[in-house]
Amino acid sequence: MNILVTGGAGYIGSHTCLELLNAGYDVEVIDNLSNSREESMIRVRELAGRNIVFHKVDLLDKIGLDKVFGSSQIDAVIHFAGLKAVSESVEFPLLYYQNNVSGTLNLCEAMKKYNVKNIVFSSSATVYGDPHTVPVTEEFPLNPTNPYGRTKLMIENILRDVYNADNDWNISLLRYFNPAGAHQSGRIGEDPGGVPSNLFPYIARVAVGKLNVLSVFGNDYNTTDGTGVRDYIHVVDVALGHVKALEKLERVSGVIVLNLGTGRGYSVLEIISAFEKASGRKIPYKIVGRRSGDVASSYADPSKAERELGWSACRGLDEMCEDVWRWQASNPNGYE
Ligand code: NAD
Ligand code: UD1
Repeated sequence: MNILVTGGAGYIGSHTCLELLNAGYDVEVIDNLSNSREESMIRVRELAGRNIVFHKVDLLDKIGLDKVFGSSQIDAVIHFAGLKAVSESVEFPLLYYQNNVSGTLNLCEAMKKYNVKNIVFSSSATVYGDPHTVPVTEEFPLNPTNPYGRTKLMIENILRDVYNADNDWNISLLRYFNPAGAHQSGRIGEDPGGVPSNLFPYIARVAVGKLNVLSVFGNDYNTTDGTGVRDYIHVVDVALGHVKALEKLERVSGVIVLNLGTGRGYSVLEIISAFEKASGRKIPYKIVGRRSGDVASSYADPSKAERELGWSACRGLDEMCEDVWRWQASNPNGYE
């Protein structure tokens, strides 16, 4: 089977391409490289010992998209391409709606035209907003609190409507919690441009000496040690969840919504301590005020994915930290 991966050069996309190749799928990638480098594709090819066809195409470029679909036989799409920075989405909402929502509309139009009706979409736990309790199940109310999250919910709804209009579509909506970690080879990993806003890449840059000190956003939450609790899930487990979701699409039709998380939450201080252990480096930190928009605690109930896909996350926090450290220490400048 030939799988088209949009956003395949990015963090989760590159790890998923590798697992797809390892599982025997052929892979083509569309990416405009707005938040990634083609070097990730070179490294995935090296790791897998197999080729990936790479198209530097923007999803907003309908003609470019049509050419890709016209020139290849595509069996299914995994759709990662999108902008993902929450604070940027608050500042530039139109950019986010344009890129994420219009990009997806163009993709679906092209899929429809070329009769490709299988899609796995990267949604996010951010669609739940501030959960009233934890763990979070797929039935929780959907109430995203920022434009980025609203693009995810809109796309989920668009895809449901596409299915309602044509029941031949097979759609998986995967809501990831907090992907972290890197491939154990240390060859591919997360390489955010500028100063990272997420916890793991920030800590990794403090550990390697590129940033001086981590700011811990609040220690007065109602959690074990007062700092925020999240469900960090190894990126390779997330990637394998996609392979399982694809297998499911081949067997069953309809729309399926699944949380991808571990079911276990860790506080910021627990992450710092695990990272210090894995890296052998001290992580200087200071407690500062809460970050606006943050919630105290969010972790998944992942039992539906286990039931429906036979998938569960099997890599733990220590492995996540060791893999991030290996990636960061051997690539202090990312893919540069
Ligand atoms: P990423 O930025 O590393 O990857 C996204 C890729 O999409 C990048 O390579 C970027 O260049 C590409 N892209 C963006 N807009 C495009 C366009 N218009 N046309 C073509 N390519 C385009 O991000 P990631 O962390 O790998 O996330 C992948 C997906 O998963 C995103 O949709 C994100 O919203 C979602 N997600 C990520 C997280 C997370 O914590 N990383 C959590 C939940 C959901
Ligand atoms: C954030 C986004 C979410 C997105 C996810 C993955 C917000 C409000 N939510 O989730 O929509 O899907 O990233 O891209 O931005 N922390 C610090 N110091 C830091 C960074 C983070 O203390 O420098 C804390 C946060 O307060 C939080 C935890 O670490 O408690 C995790 O933060 P982060 O990695 O940014 O993820 P989320 O906020 O869960």
